[in-house]
Amino acid sequence: MAAQFAAATVVVVSCLLALATLARCNSEGDILYKQRLAWKDPNNVLGSWDPTLVNPCTWFHVTCNNDNAVIRVDLGNAGISGPLIPDLGALQNLQYLELYDNSLNGTIPATLGNLTKLVSLDLYGNELTGEIPATLGAISTLRYLRLHENNLTGAIPISLGNLTSLLELKLQENAFSGSIPSSLGNLKTLWILKLNDNMLSGMVPLEVLSLVISGNLTEINIAKNDLEGTVRSSGLFRVTAIIQDKLKTA
Ligand SMILES: *[C@@H]1O[C@H](CO)[C@@H](O)[C@H](O)[C@H]1NC(C)=O
Ligand SMILES: *[C@@H]1O[C@H](CO)[C@@H](O)[C@H](O)[C@H]1NC(C)=O
Ligand SMILES: *[C@@H]1O[C@H](CO)[C@@H](O)[C@H](O)[C@H]1NC(C)=O
Ligand SMILES: *[C@@H]1O[C@H](CO)[C@@H](O)[C@H](O)[C@H]1NC(C)=O
Ligand SMILES: *[C@@H]1O[C@H](CO)[C@@H](O)[C@H](O)[C@H]1NC(C)=O
Repeated sequence: MAAQFAAATVVVVSCLLALATLARCNSEGDILYKQRLAWKDPNNVLGSWDPTLVNPCTWFHVTCNNDNAVIRVDLGNAGISGPLIPDLGALQNLQYLELYDNSLNGTIPATLGNLTKLVSLDLYGNELTGEIPATLGAISTLRYLRLHENNLTGAIPISLGNLTSLLELKLQENAFSGSIPSSLGNLKTLWILKLNDNMLSGMVPLEVLSLVISGNLTEINIAKNDLEGTVRSSGLFRVTAIIQDKLKTA
């Protein structure tokens, strides 16, 4: 009887603790501190990330706006390793997530699609695996999506065709498969499209090729895949470089 009562008390107390933790987790500093704990940081670049401060705005590598909301996290080439925690998707005002050239592993959290003010998502040069979450297609503000040089797999999501502010789409040097989605032909603002060094197959969609003529592309690289069909370059267009292998003709 006494033991049962004690067990019930433990459950109630731990629920209260969980509620208290949830409330505290509303703060952006708590999210970033949780991310700090999930990472290995051999160079101690996160040494200033002190969770007892009222906000993270004085931490190194974090930038806030005038309302003390986090708008940038700059940790490119910082020697960090480990996963991206899904909680990052709650940094509502984030515009720049710069985590390139580290040793991050695991998958790209689908929650990042909630970052509806994001301008730049730079996760290139890591060891990320799994698929690109289709939710990233909801970030209509995105101008730079650079995920190259990881170990990403699966198909390129059709939803990326919704990113109609995109200037650079760099997905090269991964292990993407399937065909190039024709929806990418919607990206009329695109300057650079790099899909080379993957395992993409099928025809290059005409919609995508038409970006060379009617879009703003200056560079398209689709080499080192398993694509069919032909592409011709012409000095008439804005594109200065079309890089491709001799394509298989079907
Ligand atoms: C990430 O790397 C660490 C350290 O090498 C390893 O323990 C962990 O299992 C890896 N995680 C994934 C999802 O591969
Ligand atoms: C964020 O995104 C995830 C997955 O896309 C979703 O399940 C979740 O409800 C979203 N969270 C918020 C706070 O909007
Ligand atoms: C990534 O893929 C390459 C080539 O398949 C492999 O050599 C490397 O070990 C992989 N890295 C990780 C972290 O999975
Ligand atoms: C984005 O693209 C997908 C697939 O093309 C579509 O179903 C969806 O409605 C689009 N809109 C948003 C906001 O994701
Ligand atoms: C293409 O680029 C030019 C010059 O940078 C710009 O003025 C124009 O709005 C762009 N077009 C699209 C569709 O983004």
